[in-house]
Amino acid sequence: MAEGISFSHYSVLLNESVDALSPEKGGIYADLTLGGGGHSLEILKRMDKDGKLIAFDQDADAIAASKIRLKDYTDRITFVNENFRNFASVLENLGVEKIDGAVIDLGVSSYQLDTPERGFSYMHDAFLDMRMNKDASLSAYDVVNTYDKENLKKIIFEYGEERFAPRIAAKIVTARESKPIETTFELVDIIRSAMPDGGRGGEKHPAKRTFQAIRIEVNKELDVITPAIYAVVDSLKPGGRLAVITFHSLEDRLVKNLFSTLANPCTCPPSFPVCVCGKKATVRPVTHKPVLPSADELSENSRSRSAKLRIIEKI
Ligand SMILES: C[S@@+](CC[C@H](N)C(=O)[O-])C[C@H]1O[C@@H](n2cnc3c(N)ncnc32)[C@H](O)[C@@H]1O
Repeated sequence: MAEGISFSHYSVLLNESVDALSPEKGGIYADLTLGGGGHSLEILKRMDKDGKLIAFDQDADAIAASKIRLKDYTDRITFVNENFRNFASVLENLGVEKIDGAVIDLGVSSYQLDTPERGFSYMHDAFLDMRMNKDASLSAYDVVNTYDKENLKKIIFEYGEERFAPRIAAKIVTARESKPIETTFELVDIIRSAMPDGGRGGEKHPAKRTFQAIRIEVNKELDVITPAIYAVVDSLKPGGRLAVITFHSLEDRLVKNLFSTLANPCTCPPSFPVCVCGKKATVRPVTHKPVLPSADELSENSRSRSAKLRIIEKI
């Protein structure tokens, strides 16, 4: 990405998540999903000059754009162009033992969705790419053209929660017999042809669920959440907080269940009068219900409508 190209992203649940971290009290914070730098900027603005921020993004474009946006704070930020699944080893290499708070704002940025050549969007015609990390070996083209029918069906059903997954997988496999499926619009046409009414009936775009599923598979998005949250919780100081923003039910379920396990790890049967398993809570929930975007935020940014924020505090 050339310098100066605008990286547009409306930061979702910005104040709600940064308020929870209280960066004013100083210390070391981590933003695991830098994106356009919105959450990072808010943390940096609020912390004093001794505060430090470690900011991860696996997308080199996000790092490049945020280096420009956050240029007034470069002495306080360490940019890390890596997958956040490497959180623990990155902190170790940086010599950081404990942090005071962290935010994870999952999913894709508006920049990624709105930049046609990244191939994330069913709204733009482009090569089927969808890699957040442009050096990663697996692209959407590979998934669509090499995965067998069963695997495609499973991914589209599980990651897209798409009830027409068997028909879509079958249409993909038939279409690619004559020539590889190369572009987003070719895939959109195949998905439409698999829908009973050509996908014209529902209020959502017919390709929305399948594109979400393929993107999750390409970036292994669900596989990295649990290990990253364990690593962050491990690194938090007592009283330090983790705020996680999710955008679809699969992510939210994972985060909700993991937070609940961390807060109630005891595996003793309910009939036991006292705990004998010895597993102790490492966190306490700060939010019992997820925080949702306000009406104002929803009216300003329709992409925030599925966002949910959950917060835990290290004991
Ligand atoms: C929703 S955007 C974050 C937006 C950001 N909070 C802001 O306010 O501008 C998510 C970002 O996280 C990055 N990302 C997603 N999964 C990641 C992972 N496993 N490791 C590193 N970066 C990841 C994406 O590349 C994307 O830039």
